[in-house]
Amino acid sequence: MKKQPRVIVGVTSGIAAFKTVELVRRLKRAGMAVRVIVSPYTFKMVAGEDLAKASGHKVYGKLFEANFDYKKVLKTRVVDHIKLADEADLIVVVPATANTMAKLAYGLADNFLTTTVLAATCPVLVCPSMNVNMWQHPAVKNNVKRLKDLGYLILGPAEGRLACGWQGKGRLENIVAVVKEVDRLLNASQRLKGKKVLVTYGATREPIDRVRAITNPSSGKMGAAVAETLYRRGAEVSVFRAENAVEPRYRMKQATFVEARDLDRLISREITKFDICFQVAAVGDFMPKTTYPGKLDSAKPLKLTLTPGQKIVTKIKRLAPKIKLIAFKAEYGLNPREMAAVGKVKLKQTRAYAVAVNDVSRPDRGFGTETNELVVVLKSGKIKKIPLAGKNEVAEKLVDMVL
Ligand SMILES: Cc1cc2nc3c(=O)[nH]c(=O)nc-3n(C[C@H](O)[C@H](O)[C@H](O)COP(=O)(O)O)c2cc1C
Repeated sequence: MKKQPRVIVGVTSGIAAFKTVELVRRLKRAGMAVRVIVSPYTFKMVAGEDLAKASGHKVYGKLFEANFDYKKVLKTRVVDHIKLADEADLIVVVPATANTMAKLAYGLADNFLTTTVLAATCPVLVCPSMNVNMWQHPAVKNNVKRLKDLGYLILGPAEGRLACGWQGKGRLENIVAVVKEVDRLLNASQRLKGKKVLVTYGATREPIDRVRAITNPSSGKMGAAVAETLYRRGAEVSVFRAENAVEPRYRMKQATFVEARDLDRLISREITKFDICFQVAAVGDFMPKTTYPGKLDSAKPLKLTLTPGQKIVTKIKRLAPKIKLIAFKAEYGLNPREMAAVGKVKLKQTRAYAVAVNDVSRPDRGFGTETNELVVVLKSGKIKKIPLAGKNEVAEKLVDMVL
């Protein structure tokens, strides 16, 4: 029998909170097990009994109940908000007040709901609802951007007549649309169940002597975002990342590399274990022919002989012919047509399913930046563009496009 999806509905104290009773009913009718968590003032906007009746379960809201006993917690090791977070397949915060969105954007955990969301690793859908001037406030806009960068998904708000008498953007998205989106996300979160996926990312570092190296500015943010997206799609994700690259947010199998040959070794040993590989690592093209065993004298001129490294990415399909390979390519100062042409060549060389090309000459995309833009060349011959956005959003679009 298929497992019943578990959804947490986080209701905050916006004026639209009363609509969540109907939402909970509809989610239950759609076959989901629903738990409701409220923020401290929510019961001013909707009756707790109605939410409890709709969900068929008690409503959670207090981190510390009056009879809270830390000794019991230490003995049983059951912490309600962690248990709920662990069990959830999806959290939908609806309506999401400006206040709660700000808290989530900055990782605050000051009540049951914000603490649960912070502890969860499942997708989190945020449905804002507020006065039009609140929605347009730069602080709220910044928080929405932060939330997207952190991997939260935002639905709405819609435009229309607002409860406060204003007309404009700020209405809670239609409940039917929320149910549809929850359903879509739950399906998406199962899409890669059972698939073993490898993501490589970060910059290689080739030593010149014991204290100096040749490297590149790749931070690993794009690769980490891809790995996190794959995790949220239900895949079993492993990461080979540069030692100094960002760590992925979720717990996943990890191995680290420094030099290209370390990554080469890891790939040669492990690649046949995977169904899919995203090769995002920025592997150095040149390495010093010899490494000086101590520290070179900085007062003396130095001549280095660099040898071209082997292209690790071209080995992947040779070693694992059935693997679905998605390779990244960093280019400098090319227009989209030229990027597509470069992508096509790389596609042939690597026998990849797709090649994602980005232009690292621009300050807002590529190495080390928070945003990116990709030209994706697919095996089918199609060329698609993923427009400039936060790396999390770009990763979501890429994963959905190629898998
Ligand atoms: C009548 C009334 C209606 C409100 N409606 C909203 C709303 O729709 N959206 C919003 O962001 N805040 C709204 N607020 C303000 C929030 O209740 C307030 O910011 C509160 O601190 C939010 O706390 P919470 O995020 O923990 O629920 C409203 C307040 C009142 C008194």
